[in-house]
Amino acid sequence: MRHPSICVPAHSGPLPWNRPLIGEAEIAEVVDTLRSGWLTHGPKATRLEHTVKERLGVEDAFAVTSCTAALHLSFLAAGIGAGDEVITPSLTFCAAPNAIRQVGARPVFVDVDPVTLNITPEAAEAAMTSLTRAIAVMHYGGQMCDMRAFRKLADRHRLLLIEDAAHALHASRDGLRAGSAGDLSTFSLYANKVAAAGEGGLLAGRGDLVQQARLLGRHGIDSSAWQRHGKRNTADYEVTVPGLKYVMSDVTAALAVVQYDRLPEFTQRRSAIAAAYTRALAGLPGLTTPTVLPGVEHGWFLYAVLIDPDVAPLDRDQLAAALVERHLISTSVHFKPVHTLGPYRDMVHRPMPVTETSAARQLSLPCCPAMTDEDVERVINAVIGVWS
Ligand SMILES: Cc1ncc(COP(=O)(O)O)c(C=O)c1O
Repeated sequence: MRHPSICVPAHSGPLPWNRPLIGEAEIAEVVDTLRSGWLTHGPKATRLEHTVKERLGVEDAFAVTSCTAALHLSFLAAGIGAGDEVITPSLTFCAAPNAIRQVGARPVFVDVDPVTLNITPEAAEAAMTSLTRAIAVMHYGGQMCDMRAFRKLADRHRLLLIEDAAHALHASRDGLRAGSAGDLSTFSLYANKVAAAGEGGLLAGRGDLVQQARLLGRHGIDSSAWQRHGKRNTADYEVTVPGLKYVMSDVTAALAVVQYDRLPEFTQRRSAIAAAYTRALAGLPGLTTPTVLPGVEHGWFLYAVLIDPDVAPLDRDQLAAALVERHLISTSVHFKPVHTLGPYRDMVHRPMPVTETSAARQLSLPCCPAMTDEDVERVINAVIGVWS
């Protein structure tokens, strides 16, 4: 059975580990924008910002070009710079560490918890120095960090708390939505994310910081093009700080507003696929399925298994090769630890045994709402087949 309301071409070649699910509503919204005569940041981006602000219960939200842009603006808006340290995981995408480096600060990597692959408040506290200015957590795969504990820790040490919620647009823990506890939070609308707009990102959080980020993200100009349009002469502006250009276009926002609204439906499907995988694969020797902690509503951006090469019949890379070569099933790896990558390799780091072991064992199986029930069965049978 094909999942209802699919509007994507049937794919040929390997089953992708992730692909977007675009319907007629998204197409209609984009066409409406194309016909409107207003393509850049305007009414659709503003609508998206209002929706995000209301759903998260935060003071403000700003729609930008990517999660990376949102991260860069976060550190700039918070005034983090040369001489400052930011505590963050190494088991993540390079975007946050790169943004920290771009503002002249130093990422201080801490090891992750072996069950959730998230950093813990205890590990963060142990890494604090007199130079620490912020903690930038990342909700691995869509399972949130313990944000109540992180909020208390950040307040106790007067640190800024940033949530890289790129994986967790629709996730919660202990009654807190991802993105609602940080001083600033960032989300990704990249093509493979749980709400996909091709490229795109969101910055949400404290009103003063988001306002400063908004200024920095539109050249430092004191009003947006949409605000000036019709009301003021378009050239009637002042540049108050030397800013950058990171605003989301309304073409992207048109796609994003519809995808954002569909998150409950998407997450329900991701969750059902995850449950089917766990039911079928949990008993395989040497394969660890994801553990969802009590109180967590998982966003299921990733269905991440760990392969213990001493117990399983093959290692992670061999499993990935078998799935794609024998069964035409693509998988992915999240992540190469950032401390092992070029610009970070020569820095001094704390030991990160869990990060390194997990990174060598982790494999992301296909888990997205564009998958049919047959696709899910195919993945299950292929994995079980490798074990038999
Ligand atoms: C944890 C994390 N943060 C940030 C990003 C960057 O997102 P974007 O491509 O929207 O800049 C990614 C992208 O995959 C990510 O996985």
